[in-house]
Amino acid sequence: MRTQVAIVGAGPAGLTLGRLLENAGIESVILESRSRAYCEARIRAGVLEQGTVDLLREAGVAERLDREGIVHHGISLQFDGERHRIPLSDLTGGRSIVIYGQTEVVKDLIAAREASGLPMLFDTPAESIDLERGIVRHAGNEIECDVIAGCDGFHGVCRESVPAGALREFTREYPYGWLGILADVEPSIDELVYAHTEQGFALLSLRSPTRSRYYLQVDHDEDVDRWPDDRVWEELQRRTAVAGWTLQEGPVLEKGVTGMRSYVCEPLRHRRLFLAGDAAHIVPPTGAKGLNLAIHDVRLLAEALIRFYERGDEVLLDAYSDACLRRVWRCEHFSWWMTTTLHLQPGGDSFDLQLQRSQLHYLTTSHAQATALAENYVGLATV
Ligand code: FAD
Ligand code: DHB
Repeated sequence: MRTQVAIVGAGPAGLTLGRLLENAGIESVILESRSRAYCEARIRAGVLEQGTVDLLREAGVAERLDREGIVHHGISLQFDGERHRIPLSDLTGGRSIVIYGQTEVVKDLIAAREASGLPMLFDTPAESIDLERGIVRHAGNEIECDVIAGCDGFHGVCRESVPAGALREFTREYPYGWLGILADVEPSIDELVYAHTEQGFALLSLRSPTRSRYYLQVDHDEDVDRWPDDRVWEELQRRTAVAGWTLQEGPVLEKGVTGMRSYVCEPLRHRRLFLAGDAAHIVPPTGAKGLNLAIHDVRLLAEALIRFYERGDEVLLDAYSDACLRRVWRCEHFSWWMTTTLHLQPGGDSFDLQLQRSQLHYLTTSHAQATALAENYVGLATV
């Protein structure tokens, strides 16, 4: 098989890139190691920045998002048993976020590609990549291409195929993780609540008017079996309690533990291979940047490929890595900062707690600090 762009991975990055290339008349083949059902059911992120929504609209895949997505204009920070609203839109000239699950974004993109009849191979892991000749091998077959888009997530093969020494890696591990639940109950909150407590962090989020998505800070290698539903609700109740408000409980539909790390590799390009999304960088989830960053990468990659195929010049392809990395490092900092400001540091002491309290107080009383949080949270227009 021969194509212009071989896209490895049908997550948000790979599928969005495929759509942007399709709209520009550039050929691509998408290979995905897992089944379609698996990709459509995997519960991950839920907060879309305005820039992400705008791009999905321009790409013509936001019809359901516009109908079902829930626009939020603020978030709350909770500490010392009180909630403080950060009015995101007021602080950012009207920008907002949209609550719409990553699973839904993925379903919409898969449906759009299926409707176009373009190649999208599920249950087809890319096994090896020949960066010299532009070949992706899978199950005894070869796809020959001009460019390989490595959109295969953190554990994919694309980054691994780059020779040792050609990439520089930056990593930070955190000594905690998140236990997340999806519950079949009306969310008890109108806007997201990020809660700092002496028992650890908690996050109240949602997926729809009838589905709540809640998280608890747990140990980084916590066994989910140690958290029966009763214990999860009890801990959520404890960490999110404020006077005059009740957390409604309901059936837990899904439960899982996610470890947390920060990671960046540089550069994002090696010869014909362009890495995008989690294949190139990971952020801890606090602040909801992972998915949005993946979409930003492929926006730039699509623009660079369009220029290459239309004019035959590689200016934007050559600039791709540096252009992505500016935003990547801004989001790395923001995610690290949100994470370390809100989570209980294992082995930390009362000095650490007082510093966090002071920072949270400052954030909720200083216009300048709240604006800095808000503009990063909704997504900086330019970095
Ligand atoms: P992925 O979504 O990982 O997609 C990569 C795809 O490549 C996968 O479908 C994978 O199966 C496929 N693949 C891998 N290897 C191969 C191969 N050899 N051949 C072919 N295909 C391959 N972000 C937030 O903002 N908020 C959250 O709450 C949040 N929760 C998360 C929970 C988990 C468990 C994880 C892993 C991530 C979470 N994230 C969250 C991050 C966010 O989901 C990611 O940043 C986002 O999925 C990145 O999209 P991507 O397309 O780059 O990678
Ligand atoms: C969600 C995840 C996040 O990481 C976050 O900061 C906010 C919301 C969510 O899954 O809803």
